[in-house]
Amino acid sequence: MTWHRKDLLDLQSLSAEEIVTVLDTAREFKAVGERHIKKVPALRGKTVVNLFVEPSTRTRISFELAAQRLSADVINFSAEASSLRKGETLKDTAKNLEALNADFIVIRHSAAGAPHFLARVLGSHVVNAGDGAHEHPTQGLLDIFTMREKKGRVEGLRVTILGDILYSRVARSNIWGLQKLGAQVTLCGPPTLVPRTFEAMGCRVVHDLKQAIRDADVINLLRIQHERQRKSMFPGLGEYTNLFGITQSRLADTKPDALIMHPGPINRGVEVDGDVADGERSVILEQVTNGLAIRMAALYLINSSRGDSAAHN
Ligand code: CP
Repeated sequence: MTWHRKDLLDLQSLSAEEIVTVLDTAREFKAVGERHIKKVPALRGKTVVNLFVEPSTRTRISFELAAQRLSADVINFSAEASSLRKGETLKDTAKNLEALNADFIVIRHSAAGAPHFLARVLGSHVVNAGDGAHEHPTQGLLDIFTMREKKGRVEGLRVTILGDILYSRVARSNIWGLQKLGAQVTLCGPPTLVPRTFEAMGCRVVHDLKQAIRDADVINLLRIQHERQRKSMFPGLGEYTNLFGITQSRLADTKPDALIMHPGPINRGVEVDGDVADGERSVILEQVTNGLAIRMAALYLINSSRGDSAAHN
């Protein structure tokens, strides 16, 4: 299909066909990454600015590498060393980056909606690298890519997302993307972090771990997002681990081929034991590898977008 979107802001607004296009394009870029020469000229002469106003390891580095593999020039913006510290607004900062001919602005921000705001005020392409507790579309795409690669399909898969759903942008992008492709999503965790309101998104909400993971094809674990919780949502980490932490003994009650996934960063010994995270069912590092291919595909497709304003985000 021809790609029409100027920006990549969320999975909520993408169609199933658009999601599959990104996944198929990423499969081709993953093959490029396995070649002796891993670079292609698709974005030669273009400039990508990584505007990360929140910490990141995986997303920032893989966007940087993705842009480099596509032959773009890459600038990593350091919020701490920038004029944001002097009170410059996000809009003014981004407008100045655009004045320096930034073709792409990849933004991570603690405020939900910050990328959507920039997409409205900038002519440059805007890519959401995580906005508050709203969405993290490339993480959702790389998760779905990994599930499809490992299981051969997405339709009909039973995916359990376990942990801090309320504050998780990863959960929301997974929910939108997986359901559009026909997967069944179960959410599990403490009731304070997994309220029944998520049933309105079409998910099954379960507060009993055994029930949530028994039939799962995929168990996607989430970190407790201390930085976004306004107050403690459960008595303590020890209690969380006792009730919801994934250990080898708990895996005995799951399908033998159930995948263990985690977007990272992992809190070993909290939501997952180290031997499970490093075990044979874990695809956590493959998710990271696939993230590079997904981000190459996203930048490539957006760069190819046609100026059809009706289909702009
Ligand atoms: N998964 C993820 O977004 O990791 P980073 O915060 O390290 O980018």
